[in-house]
Amino acid sequence: MSAKSLRRNFIRNSMLFITGLFSFHAGSQKANAAEEKQDNHSDDTETVNDTIKTINSLRTIHGNFTEQDIPDSKIQLILKSCVRAANASNMQTYSVIVVKDRDVMQKVSQYRGSCMLLFCVDYNRLITCAESLGHSYYTDKMTSFITGSTNTILAAQTAVIAARSLGIDCLLTNGIHRGDMKRVWETLELPEDNCYPLIALVMGYPTEEPPYKKGRLDGIGIFHNEKYHPLMKSDIEEIVSKVDNKQAHISLNNDWDKKGYKHYYDWLFTSWIGENGRKPAENETQQFKLLKRSNFVDLQNL
Ligand SMILES: Cc1cc2nc3c(=O)[nH]c(=O)nc-3n(C[C@H](O)[C@H](O)[C@H](O)COP(=O)(O)O)c2cc1C
Repeated sequence: MSAKSLRRNFIRNSMLFITGLFSFHAGSQKANAAEEKQDNHSDDTETVNDTIKTINSLRTIHGNFTEQDIPDSKIQLILKSCVRAANASNMQTYSVIVVKDRDVMQKVSQYRGSCMLLFCVDYNRLITCAESLGHSYYTDKMTSFITGSTNTILAAQTAVIAARSLGIDCLLTNGIHRGDMKRVWETLELPEDNCYPLIALVMGYPTEEPPYKKGRLDGIGIFHNEKYHPLMKSDIEEIVSKVDNKQAHISLNNDWDKKGYKHYYDWLFTSWIGENGRKPAENETQQFKLLKRSNFVDLQNL
């Protein structure tokens, strides 16, 4: 068997294993065979359950939310669910700001929806509790930020899955990091120390259904069998052709070829990254300064 088919088998077996794990957790809910057939990720009908179906149905609504409010009971369910995500030492090094005021939401995240959850890496609750008990607790800078971000992002994605399972749509956005980021601290009165807004989750109901579900790469170059495998020429060709395939819906737009580009990546790495890549770079100095102000970067020990 060739190395390539071995890798393919590994990827397929891994997917089956992960699917099996989810199936174990969710019990014996029966799958709807008709729905599964529509979904190209769900060909193993006996192992697909409601949890897998929810995960496979995830999609982003890019800001076109209706004025309809989300019932409080559902927001509470999403909040209670998101904290079930794993987190290092169960210290929950995050806080979540719940915002229903659409103007505030817009100012902070650049998007409007029914409810925004702002997920922040935050050590203040722990530091305050430690100090009030006569202990000192200091974050260890970058490590704390990396671990804190991991905990925070897992909670955010768990909120997305919980929301989708309740029929609520989501937009994860780093719009909070665009423009003058100080507005986020000022508007929401975030502590300057040991608190960093990481990602905003805007939730609501879409004004219209997206025309298609975005595809993903889910093979070569994403999953690696036992050790890292640099791409071979044939792998590169396969990936470029996959993202070029408009039926796969991996690209951000469908008219890159009409703009004169041979491949989607030709457009992505010139037009998109060329134009948009510069914007974060301009803002990076402020991101860095704010990370430093938050105490998450310590250059003195470098
Ligand atoms: C960190 C992060 C930032 C994102 N920021 C935005 C954003 O500002 N605006 C937007 O419309 N979508 C944003 N998205 C959504 C992605 O564009 C979307 O997940 C991706 O195109 C795949 O589409 P899908 O989620 O519908 O499958 C963001 C997603 C992530 C994880």
